[in-house]
Amino acid sequence: MPQIPEEKSLESTPHMLREGYLFISNHCHQHQADLFQARLLFEKTLLMRGEEAARLFYNADYCKREGAAPVRLQKTLFGVGGVQALDGELHHVRKQMFMSLMTPEGIDRLVTLTRQVWNDYLDRWTAMDRVVLFEESKEILCRAVCAWAGVPLAEEDVRQRTEDLNAMIEGASAIGPQHWHARLGRKRAEQWIGALIEQVRDGELSVAEGSALHTVATHHDANGEKLDTHVAAVEVLNLLRPTVAVSRYITFVAHALHEHGHCLAPLQGEHRDEYAEWFVQEVRRVYPFFPFAAARLRDDVDWRGYRLPKDTRVLLDLYGTNHDARLWDDPEAFRPERFHGWEGNPYSLIPQGGGDHYANHRCPGEWITIALMKMTLNLLTNSMEYDVPPQDLSISLTKIPALPESGFVISNVRHVPLTPMG
Ligand code: HEM
Repeated sequence: MPQIPEEKSLESTPHMLREGYLFISNHCHQHQADLFQARLLFEKTLLMRGEEAARLFYNADYCKREGAAPVRLQKTLFGVGGVQALDGELHHVRKQMFMSLMTPEGIDRLVTLTRQVWNDYLDRWTAMDRVVLFEESKEILCRAVCAWAGVPLAEEDVRQRTEDLNAMIEGASAIGPQHWHARLGRKRAEQWIGALIEQVRDGELSVAEGSALHTVATHHDANGEKLDTHVAAVEVLNLLRPTVAVSRYITFVAHALHEHGHCLAPLQGEHRDEYAEWFVQEVRRVYPFFPFAAARLRDDVDWRGYRLPKDTRVLLDLYGTNHDARLWDDPEAFRPERFHGWEGNPYSLIPQGGGDHYANHRCPGEWITIALMKMTLNLLTNSMEYDVPPQDLSISLTKIPALPESGFVISNVRHVPLTPMG
């Protein structure tokens, strides 16, 4: 049986921090393999990429989530006790709670709310010298998702709540002060939502049945019991935080529109709906967001001739799989047309995880994300005009999570009457 290719270095975390999104792909390339072994955060870890690796990673018979995510990520990004770390029936029942919110009507409602807030902001932008799209879209999404979820948000709290939700993402992979900032943001947000969960349960806060806050507050887990207040807060934040994170994709949509002018004509032409879908998929494929996902092997597994040992932590390269030349012709090129006739493959386009939304850990917010990105595309191309002044639009692949350096500045913003599509 062949040996799994292994990094020579005693601890590869510094290399990972240096190489960022390209770390797994670079080293797979060096080892001429789709997997290799390295010590990360002082633990032996298997790093894998590609469609076959994704099929293994999302097969619940082989991989589990218990103990997979490093504690520092749980304390910032995910929260302790949330759906991300559950397996089997516990995961199944909790995941259905999330999926019950992802109906076409529920998604439309969030898009409508977001568009309304966007239009209020647009009025303000027309009077501003410069608008940093990333900063503004974080706030727009925070207001919209709180309204959608039934979470009261006082005007004077908008900035702080937005920043706390953003800090959890921004500081997740950081070390030092930014990491502690993320922990503080999470602590404050969990207290805020935890108090609301208790108010809903005590009948002090009346909130629409079917709203996210109501659904989580009244959900019964696989053991038949209501969620502990802290876990319920973690799960509501599992809806608010990533929706605010869609601001990064909004920024990437604007960036892609600016960089790829040839896409503008089809976005305003006869087949704009179809092209908008391809454009958004190409943004999700090309632009960097989460570099990888983590799981643990349930048992010894034989994979492509290698024996992968039980309990080993496995990282699946999301970014690298989206850029795998075996799956994507000329993968670095931005070409929305590549999605023409694409029939979908749950293991090749995996910026939000792979497999099945209901059965696996694939992101339940993927349809929301796509809908919000399409809405953005429509607003940017059909409802407003703006200039893009000189600025640093570079996106570093060593900063996680990535963003254009300037946050994408627009100026001279003008209204164009709104079209009915969205
Ligand atoms: C900004 C765009 C987004 C990106 C890039 C993203 C990415 C991801 C990724 C990579 C995973 C992990 C997959 C895995 O563990 O294998 C995930 C899981 C998850 N996402 Fe998203 N996501 C986004 C938006 C959203 C939205 C809008 C929501 C909710 C409204 C959401 C809620 C969740 C939840 C609850 C999970 C855990 C699912 C589970 O463990 O079963 N995400 N997402």
